[in-house]
Amino acid sequence: MRLPGQGPNRETGGVFADVTPAPPDPILGLGELFKADPRADKLDLTVGVYCDETGRTPVMEVVRAAQAQLIAAETSKTYQPIAGSATFAAVVKELVAPGDAATQARLEVAQAPGGTGALTVAGRLLWSTYPDATVWISDPTWPNHRGIFADCGLEVRTYPYYDADTATVRFDALLEALAAVGPHDAVVLHGCCHNPTGQDLTAAQWAQVGAVLAERGALAIVDTAYIGLGDGLEEDATGLRAMVASGADVAACLSFSKNLGLYGERAGALVVAGHSPEQAELVQSRVKACIRTIYSNPPITAGVIVATILASPELRAGWHAELAEIRDRINGLRAGLAAELAGRNLDRCRGTATGKGMFALTGLTRDEVLRLRDEAAIYLVENGRMNLAALTEATIPRFVDALEKLS
Ligand SMILES: Cc1ncc(COP(=O)(O)O)c(C=O)c1O
Repeated sequence: MRLPGQGPNRETGGVFADVTPAPPDPILGLGELFKADPRADKLDLTVGVYCDETGRTPVMEVVRAAQAQLIAAETSKTYQPIAGSATFAAVVKELVAPGDAATQARLEVAQAPGGTGALTVAGRLLWSTYPDATVWISDPTWPNHRGIFADCGLEVRTYPYYDADTATVRFDALLEALAAVGPHDAVVLHGCCHNPTGQDLTAAQWAQVGAVLAERGALAIVDTAYIGLGDGLEEDATGLRAMVASGADVAACLSFSKNLGLYGERAGALVVAGHSPEQAELVQSRVKACIRTIYSNPPITAGVIVATILASPELRAGWHAELAEIRDRINGLRAGLAAELAGRNLDRCRGTATGKGMFALTGLTRDEVLRLRDEAAIYLVENGRMNLAALTEATIPRFVDALEKLS
């Protein structure tokens, strides 16, 4: 027996003695390498944060205004309810189903620490009822999807999504794969601005997928991390709204990290769409039980900022305007890069002009990515993903020069 103050039992080694190093995160791990790179003209196109023309990730003016209101009005830091505030739930319902009282009645909202938190709760929710369920993720996808659902104890499989030669969605192959989805499985769909390909389903395709999932009795987990960064807030919510209307069971995982620039505040929401208000309420009781054991209750500041902005017509209008600036800049960069590539007859980064959101798959091999890093101090994720929003008008030619030199 070990007595207090005696320290670990060196004979048996202890739990930590058997710990092996975790593999570095495929995206965040590169940040360390980038920081250590001494080259002055280095360019980081890896991490998924928006950068303005000066390379900063700014705080939105509407966020500053909401924060000022929060500081002036706050009287306590006591815990929030498990699912967050009623105001937060109301504004999120309005975002998902604007002006549609019947649909809103069968939605339940839980504020979550970012989109990652919402996805984790969705995974735990599925596991708590169907531990043998499989979660289907797109090939390719945001790498965290696999880890999140695997860590919930669920089996994770992929469905085909992207044709790299044509930079389009392999919709027929996707539909074919859905035939293997079991009744209690979940299919993770990117609500818009697919990460990493930038290629989204059309409205008609969303409806088709929704019908299949409803027919198979599967859960649609709609990962909605980028609404407002593609074509517009309304336009980018098309897929999510089609899925909610489809008759499929839906767990929508919203993030306000990118579209409100709230990254580190951890602002997100899990929205469950049931077939009736009663069913949604029942599922919400499970959602709350899951939250209670993971993080107990959500962050106050994130919830108040989102609720304040979305509930105020004035701040909401300001948000829309600031978001439009971000979106226009990203779309301008897409057009600028596509024009530069075309001007030099360079068949690289094929989906640049047609894609939506911050990301594109360049099609570069791992070797080429490493060469770009070594020879030009340009950092991409090893699967060839680039964050377009970290380019500027000035760095586009330098990036394309480096691509040209690879050939
Ligand atoms: C596809 C996708 N889903 C979810 C998230 C999670 O975002 P958050 O930072 O809000 O957890 C991200 C963030 O990069 C993402 O790209």
